[in-house]
Amino acid sequence: MSYSLLKGKRGIIFGALDPNSIAWKVAVRAHEEGAAFTLTNAPVALRMGAINQLAEQCNAQVIGADATSMTDLENLFNQSAEVLGGKVDFVLHSIGMSPNVRKNKPYTDLDYEYFHKTIDISAMSLHRVLQSAMKLDAISEWGSVVALTYIAAQRVFPDYNDMADAKSMLESIARSYGYHYGKFRKVRVNTISQSPTKTTAGQGVKGFDSFFNYADAISPLGNATAEACADYCISLFSDLTKHVTMQNLFHDGGFSFTGVSNEVMDKFQS
Ligand SMILES: NC(=O)c1ccc[n+]([C@@H]2O[C@H](COP(=O)([O-])OP(=O)(O)OC[C@H]3O[C@@H](n4cnc5c(N)ncnc54)[C@H](O)[C@@H]3O)[C@@H](O)[C@H]2O)c1
Repeated sequence: MSYSLLKGKRGIIFGALDPNSIAWKVAVRAHEEGAAFTLTNAPVALRMGAINQLAEQCNAQVIGADATSMTDLENLFNQSAEVLGGKVDFVLHSIGMSPNVRKNKPYTDLDYEYFHKTIDISAMSLHRVLQSAMKLDAISEWGSVVALTYIAAQRVFPDYNDMADAKSMLESIARSYGYHYGKFRKVRVNTISQSPTKTTAGQGVKGFDSFFNYADAISPLGNATAEACADYCISLFSDLTKHVTMQNLFHDGGFSFTGVSNEVMDKFQS
């Protein structure tokens, strides 16, 4: 159902790799809600080609950008303003990658070059996006920036590896930059802490299926789907949440505040 919540708004959506990506679902919903936006991803992801199908569906232009390159980001903001006909009102940061996770390096035997890359791609990139945008004054007053995160930033999930540290930093950047961008242009910056979701990045984490099922059994509402996450993103891009900023917002069916559920306790009955 469409409520025209983003009618007249312009945006940039990072991270739609394939139809399972959370960013893909956000793009589809943003289009339904009347937004005009550009789609972006790293050049290597663009070569896979799936994003062109989404671009056609959403009448959006694709602009390649590696989120660790200031030149690429500056070009992305400039080109987006040109294509969309003005400053953007919303940005979705839906980016995560850990070479240590990819190469099965355990947390107690990390490769530090890889660790740098994890932090650069998965956390510092949010700072880069915000700093490039601020220098170009590329986001309108009362604009909204949302980045996606995971509860391993606060609690230990042993196989989430160095991504846990990256997510802690990502959430901290949202808070710190949220202050500065709030003062500068009343732009709000938030993170959404999403349930485990079956995507390329999610399923790259060791033991994903087990902790997907565990989270589902703990959460009173069950795991939140990617589609539900997209709805939440739309609400944060809309004018209905204008004074929400610098927050980490759990979108997890109640997982974060549940100690244990009856279903899980039943499994331990002696
Ligand atoms: N899937 C989950 O269980 C889950 C749960 C909570 C949070 N998240 C977060 O949601 C976000 C989106 O992930 P997803 O689950 O949709 O998986 P996904 O694999 O579809 O998306 C990850 C995206 O990051 C992009 N990316 C990687 N390196 C990049 C770079 N250098 N520059 C630009 N983009 C780059 C990839 O190309 C891909 O599009 C990530 O931040 C992820 O950590 C995912």
